[in-house]
Amino acid sequence: MSGSISYTLNSGNTIPKVGLGVYKTSPEVAENIVYEALKAGYRHVDSAALYKNEKEVCEGIAKWLAEDPANKREDLFYTTKVYDDHHGYELTKKSVAESLEKAAKIGYIDLVLMHSPKSDYEKRHGSWKALQEAVAEGKVKNIGVSNYGVKHLNELLAYKDLKIKPAVNQIEVHPWLMRSELCKYCHEQGILIEAYSPLAKARKFDDPDLQTLASKLGKSAGQILIAWSLAKGYVVLPKTETKARLVPNLEVFDIKLSEEDLALLEKPNEYFTTGWDPTVYPLDDEK
Ligand SMILES: NC(=O)c1ccc[n+]([C@@H]2O[C@H](COP(=O)([O-])OP(=O)(O)OC[C@H]3O[C@@H](n4cnc5c(N)ncnc54)[C@H](OP(=O)(O)O)[C@@H]3O)[C@@H](O)[C@H]2O)c1
Repeated sequence: MSGSISYTLNSGNTIPKVGLGVYKTSPEVAENIVYEALKAGYRHVDSAALYKNEKEVCEGIAKWLAEDPANKREDLFYTTKVYDDHHGYELTKKSVAESLEKAAKIGYIDLVLMHSPKSDYEKRHGSWKALQEAVAEGKVKNIGVSNYGVKHLNELLAYKDLKIKPAVNQIEVHPWLMRSELCKYCHEQGILIEAYSPLAKARKFDDPDLQTLASKLGKSAGQILIAWSLAKGYVVLPKTETKARLVPNLEVFDIKLSEEDLALLEKPNEYFTTGWDPTVYPLDDEK
């Protein structure tokens, strides 16, 4: 099943290449769209404490698990994030405990991320210590970061008590925000890139080069963008709360983009962000 096609993380665990994003998916909608996504073949969901839908996302997963003994928890991958206002050792412990409580019906969390580097050295360090302990305690399987720039990763990798390297760095990346240097650095460090806002929030669908490729390959603009992330070797997290888009957004594994196609699509000199960009957040000595 295409939804279970996976990469292997530096932890040795696997992660399905396509995950359903649920940012801005309201609690009222979350349970059902997650349930429908799992029925449609998705095996990976990306939430966050900030999204205020963790409980409902996990309800959707639990409903699917309860439906058929063939539906197995170990085949699924559930991610959540610690938000910036919960940086520091104690607050991160609390945030993880709260996320675990909301995930009680599904037993454990596959991946917990630092949502961004937006605090200070002391707090980031304390958070990482708490995340490492969560893995040691067994209820969190992998840990990683989001929105970290090279400088934040360098800081983390130099922690004296570093036991676990981040498994992933979840960043906004698409053909209009290539972040080549950061992606190369992560690749060299064995940190997998997760592409968020991979559809550029549907704001670039009228790009003429994207339209040309979509017509040539007989695919939609959205499918081409998801295939682009896969061609780069990234996990890709398209968000939809439209049931009819779930299956098309997963039917992307047969799309082969040639070097020529990639060159047409990619705009390495553009810097098109659709939201925040904490990868440039200053270190303490830059403030
Ligand atoms: N770590 C971070 O800081 C961070 C930041 C942003 C996002 N994320 C993660 O990444 C996920 C995806 O990013 P995102 O939600 O910002 O944006 P996105 O996935 O780039 O785009 C989502 C938008 O595209 C629409 N859409 C989805 N599939 C489509 C299709 N096939 N054709 C046309 N429109 C389509 C959706 O509409 P409908 O829903 O109405 O279908 C929605 O408006 C998030 O949900 C979240 O899990 C993480």
